[in-house]
Amino acid sequence: MTAHRTLVLLAHPDLEGSRVNARLADAVRDLEGVTVHDLAAAYPDGRIDVAREQQLLLEHDTVVWQFPWHWYSVPGILKSWMDQVLTWGFAYGTDGTKLRGKTLQVVTSTGGPEEAYADGGYNRFTMEQLMRPLDATAHLCGMPMAEPMVLHGVRTMSDAELDRQALQYRALLTIDRARAA
Ligand SMILES: Cc1cc2nc3c(=O)[nH]c(=O)nc-3n(C[C@H](O)[C@H](O)[C@H](O)COP(=O)(O)O)c2cc1C
Repeated sequence: MTAHRTLVLLAHPDLEGSRVNARLADAVRDLEGVTVHDLAAAYPDGRIDVAREQQLLLEHDTVVWQFPWHWYSVPGILKSWMDQVLTWGFAYGTDGTKLRGKTLQVVTSTGGPEEAYADGGYNRFTMEQLMRPLDATAHLCGMPMAEPMVLHGVRTMSDAELDRQALQYRALLTIDRARAA
């Protein structure tokens, strides 16, 4: 049996200005079997190499979408990736079975605190509700969606708490490998 492989699609439009996602990515970069793929660095002009991205997906068992929460959704660079890479005949539709059985793990950070993401709260909806398009996308592609890892209120998160979350992320990807082995 081949070793379990995890592809982290790091989708941040300005990683140099990132505190949270840069720290999280650094926490998993050296893990065995984990490929951290920085989409903005790979495609500075925004032109995605679809064949390369699809090949990367084929070579991995778990796919992580790691990104800062932007306007209640994924950043444009990840939406672009989804629009271009998750094609009919590859990800869904007739013979579009290439992603079937691969786990999708969402890892995201929000400026808003946890209590703001509630019915009647500042942001009106729960994260579970707002993530439904991602859930539906995973479902269409036949990808079981793992429980998302969400870091809330990151603007006021202490460095110590961020370190703790980074360790938790590392553990999550390690456990994912161990479970699959
Ligand atoms: C364009 C933009 C849109 C954002 N939209 C939201 C949002 O809808 N909800 C929210 O809680 N935070 C929002 N934020 C805050 C980011 O989620 C937060 O700055 C990010 O998670 C921090 O991660 P980083 O240090 O890796 O950049 C937004 C930030 C930017 C720049």
